Amino acid sequence: MYRNTYVSIKPEILTNNIKEIKKHYPNYQYYIGVVKGNAYGHGDYIVNDLIKGGVNYLAVSSLEEALSIRKWNETIPILCLEVIPISYLEECIRQHITITVESFSYYQELKREKLSKKLKVHIKLDTGMNRLGFKEKEEFETVFYGLQQEKNIEVEGIYTHFATQGVHDIYWDRQYQKFQFLLKDIDLTSVKIIHMGRSLTLVNHDKPDFVNGIRLGIIMYGFNQSISFGRGIKRKLRLIKRNCYLKKTQISKTHLENHLALQTAFSLYTEVMSIKQVKRGEVIGYRASYQAKDDMTIAILPIGYADGMSLDFKEVIIHGKKYPIIGEICMDMTIIQIDDSVSLHDKVEIFGDTISVKEAALKKKSNAYQLLLSITNRVPRIYDEKEIKY
Ligand SMILES: Cc1ncc(COP(=O)(O)O)c(C=O)c1O
Repeated sequence: MYRNTYVSIKPEILTNNIKEIKKHYPNYQYYIGVVKGNAYGHGDYIVNDLIKGGVNYLAVSSLEEALSIRKWNETIPILCLEVIPISYLEECIRQHITITVESFSYYQELKREKLSKKLKVHIKLDTGMNRLGFKEKEEFETVFYGLQQEKNIEVEGIYTHFATQGVHDIYWDRQYQKFQFLLKDIDLTSVKIIHMGRSLTLVNHDKPDFVNGIRLGIIMYGFNQSISFGRGIKRKLRLIKRNCYLKKTQISKTHLENHLALQTAFSLYTEVMSIKQVKRGEVIGYRASYQAKDDMTIAILPIGYADGMSLDFKEVIIHGKKYPIIGEICMDMTIIQIDDSVSLHDKVEIFGDTISVKEAALKKKSNAYQLLLSITNRVPRIYDEKEIKY
């Protein structure tokens, strides 16, 4: 590491998160860890820590991401959630990568291929999100039986994805009913994995008997997605309101609160790179957007928007104390006001400890997904103080 700006990852926390999730929700057979987007910004390196916790399948978007994971683990099955160009199927076979079949045209192309060995496929059903997947029952059944006849294809899985949480809306139930409808005439005993949904599905909905897999994304990284009703009178009022909503909409049973003790493993740090005295009236930074009201001491930090530093962040933490960001955040640097207790090379927290990931995301008017993924690859990921070269 040549620049003291880094993401610190604590892999053991991720392992413990998975153990905690499995302890509370033990009835699935396949815990599919979603590690797309460089494992939600944590870096592929952590896949073995997820596996240690009990994840037994992985899911990524692209073949590129799947191959990158193969550097760290050669055997764990990996499902690609996007469409893999037919010309790369032999690479999928060689690297034990499972593909998604989601349209009739892709199915036809696949049928024409002379595959050298068995390729695992999962069929994706579009139950209402209008993203990838089969919507029509007849078409899906044609594809299902058509693929089952192929000597070098194993229909290992069928899955769908939900657009909503199904807690404050009716769409989840509609999608679930469509999923049941699409599957109703298929002999599911011949399919190893039926998986639906994501972290929110796990915590908000009961596991249907015919489903044995769950795709875990944000929850693995420390977000239990619990919706608290609070305490006392507020709780009572909220429960009454909730019951009225349930009566009105007749949505299926949902669980809002959970007691999963999860932790985030991701913190962003930098250091004090330079210290400078500024006289009252002087201006600071681009566009001279800040003018010193008094004589002041400032520090320059080696982190900017090229690292993913958000322009919405207004303060940083040094030795547990908040210091304001002043002037405009630059591409590579940020300027803060400091006091005498701050020295050159002091560690600066952007978020992760005193400022939680959730708080930082709120400051950005965003969510944890977007915040974690916004920290660019220029920032090295350090695992238990150790840098891993990709
Ligand atoms: C198809 C699919 N499954 C699962 C997930 C994981 O979602 P979450 O992080 O909300 O658990 C995603 C995330 O975008 C997804 O696209």
